[in-house]
Amino acid sequence: MLGLGVDFSKNPLTADTEALLHTLAEQCGVALWRDAMFAGQAINTTEQRQVMHWLLRQPAGSLSGDLAKPLQQVHETLDAMLAYAEQVRADPQITDVVHMGIGGSDLGPQLVVGALHQPAVTGKRFHFVSNVDGHELAAVLQGLKPQHTLFLIASKTFTTAETMMNAHSAREWFVRQGGTDTARHFAALTSNRSAAADFGISTTFGFWDWVGGRYSLWSAIGLPIAIALGEAGFRQMLAGAHAMDRHFCSQPVQNNLPMRLGLLDVWMRNFHGHQSRGIAPYHSGLRRLPAFLQQLEMESNGKSVDRQGQSLSYATAPVLWGEPGTNGQHAFFQMVHQGGTVVPMEFIVVRQAQHDLPGHQKALLANAVAQAQALLMGQSDAGGHRNFSGNRPSTFVWLDALTPERLGALIAFYEHRVFVSGAIWGINSFDQYGVELGKTLALDLAKRWDSLDVKDLDASTAGLLRQLT
Ligand code: F6P
Repeated sequence: MLGLGVDFSKNPLTADTEALLHTLAEQCGVALWRDAMFAGQAINTTEQRQVMHWLLRQPAGSLSGDLAKPLQQVHETLDAMLAYAEQVRADPQITDVVHMGIGGSDLGPQLVVGALHQPAVTGKRFHFVSNVDGHELAAVLQGLKPQHTLFLIASKTFTTAETMMNAHSAREWFVRQGGTDTARHFAALTSNRSAAADFGISTTFGFWDWVGGRYSLWSAIGLPIAIALGEAGFRQMLAGAHAMDRHFCSQPVQNNLPMRLGLLDVWMRNFHGHQSRGIAPYHSGLRRLPAFLQQLEMESNGKSVDRQGQSLSYATAPVLWGEPGTNGQHAFFQMVHQGGTVVPMEFIVVRQAQHDLPGHQKALLANAVAQAQALLMGQSDAGGHRNFSGNRPSTFVWLDALTPERLGALIAFYEHRVFVSGAIWGINSFDQYGVELGKTLALDLAKRWDSLDVKDLDASTAGLLRQLT
């Protein structure tokens, strides 16, 4: 039981369309690519890597053959990490956990901790520092005491410039404030153990190159989640994701939620030409879901070449954006209802509330349903400025409750949905070369900064350097 449902009924989709999309999926070999991923084949061809984030939620001892050993290593690391998490939870001296990472090393943990952590239970505060902007770190450090703080340095590569700069600054602050026991107050979450050791961290939880950054919350990168939820909660989250893996692998396409949604996404993007999708989670705990999905979908599928590097003649990932409802209603929904561009909306709701304030849940859910209804039905008889064209598409995703298990299933559902659209588009969804150029140029500009060396720079960039230095 997934505890997750989808209502497609406000999309321009008939049974015939779905049947044609199923044929498209077959022609593109989506199920074959899926099976190759779950068989441990190196489907990340540009980086020659397997794609096995799903293995992180596979039950212990459940695989034989080549994958038995990696699965055993997954569980050894998981057990060690969860034991450490329990130790931290039981330690009243640690009141503040500062998680430092960016992109996939930040967004997943931030989403889940934000959705499920109850400070009243752990007595801990969680802080997430991702940006190289010193304002972010300075604001967090301001309220901390070294003897009560645990820094988690989260970086798959342990080379990412922002995270390394924040980690160095945090350590300098720690020492300056009289902190002494670095081994107790710093832990590294990384696949590059030697770099963590060089940094001087002795407590390290590792993972493998076959876990992509944006798929890594199930690995050691999820340590803050484990501290926030405890061992049982973390295992429930893995179980929920594993249930979705099984659903994705076993259900025929017409009942397979990630398949159907991935195909819907292609239908809306390529056949209707919609350039963006609005994400509206109607649950404040899911406030970071739009940001998480931005990386998941846009970093995975924002590509213009196929697996062989040949230019594509069709569009791929849409722009994802959004805010929690009902806030979005008082900001950008004007455009969504009456603007000149149609934006397919995705409403994500949770049926059961976990508070007992009377009236709120009914108001929240009624608003979500009403927005979708207004988009669909419009209003044609009010005249001029008050007319709504209607016939605007939306999809409704609901969870029965926001529990670790359900959230695990929801996130895995999005992972697989992105996989499906990427497979239809024929791209490698697991590399991200598009982020590299800017990183290289930033390093070059930082070197030029103090001497204002503009040699060989384009005139526009040189002009900005003169303005800003
Ligand atoms: O720059 C993009 C990226 O490589 C993401 O794919 C990744 O999630 C993020 O940076 C952080 O990388 P790392 O975990 O290696 O610090």
